[in-house]
Amino acid sequence: MSWIGGKKSLRELIVSLFPLYYERYIEVFGGGGWVLFHKSPGNDFEVYNDFNSLLVNLYRCVRDRYEDLERELMYVLNSREDFEKTKELLDKDSVADDVKRAAYFYQLIRYSYASGLTSFGSQPHDMRSNFPVIEQAHRRLAKVVIENKDFEKLIRQYDRPVSFFYLDPPYFDTEKYYKNVGEDGFKKEDHTRLRDALLSIEGKFLLSYNDCEFIRNLYNTPGITIESYSRINNIKQRYDNGAQFPEILIANYDLHERDQNSPSQINLFDIKKDYPKEEMEL
Ligand SMILES: C[S@@+](CC[C@H](N)C(=O)[O-])C[C@H]1O[C@@H](n2cnc3c(N)ncnc32)[C@H](O)[C@@H]1O
Repeated sequence: MSWIGGKKSLRELIVSLFPLYYERYIEVFGGGGWVLFHKSPGNDFEVYNDFNSLLVNLYRCVRDRYEDLERELMYVLNSREDFEKTKELLDKDSVADDVKRAAYFYQLIRYSYASGLTSFGSQPHDMRSNFPVIEQAHRRLAKVVIENKDFEKLIRQYDRPVSFFYLDPPYFDTEKYYKNVGEDGFKKEDHTRLRDALLSIEGKFLLSYNDCEFIRNLYNTPGITIESYSRINNIKQRYDNGAQFPEILIANYDLHERDQNSPSQINLFDIKKDYPKEEMEL
């Protein structure tokens, strides 16, 4: 589902840069879970974490009580009045039942403008069209441990030499969008706290960030690799055709160890060379 800072467009690249060997996969800032859902389930022990308790409750209900959740969602109205009432109830933290709380939160995500949770989107949408996706997510999450911790505690708890952490924190200078997460939201100092936690782990980590001087300086240290990538910036694109959004990936292992181990790289030119022309025209 849409989520602020969601890694939908980078998930392919991110998964291709995972280390070759690890036994524990820990997604520290899980959000919409784009990377976890893209990664194939293997024999590794998987952990999804986020500090947003409404989001974590939703994923736990998808994993453990999806039928109750769908029953609850079946009768949700796509209406401004219902949306405002639900928002108020969730703000006051007065919904005690987990499944109801999860349904209300999902309703806000689905019926808000740009999934921003704040204003009613006024778009036609049949809630039941989401049920097949909820069921797929239910199966994918079956063996995933779902945590609701601050990143520092989580990293300390799951760190082992065979652990691999993927981290997608709030980007530098976008912290204001996460102010209702945890007790104080994400603060500028938290970027330094994250760096300190990561530089002392025994396992491996891959971290995604926006490309800026502050973050580059923070990780400018021996043994750490920083690579830049850029993707089309959807918002800027509307005003400035071709605008790119520069991002960096930071890791404490060789980001290209998979390239060196893949048998032989096939490209379009090899295919043309190796196969007769007729076979190429499908
Ligand atoms: C950029 S988003 C992650 C997006 C995710 N990778 C995706 O594809 O949807 C950052 C996430 O960090 C979470 N977060 C904020 N502060 C946190 C903290 N102190 N510990 C753990 N998670 C936190 C937010 O709730 C948010 O979901």
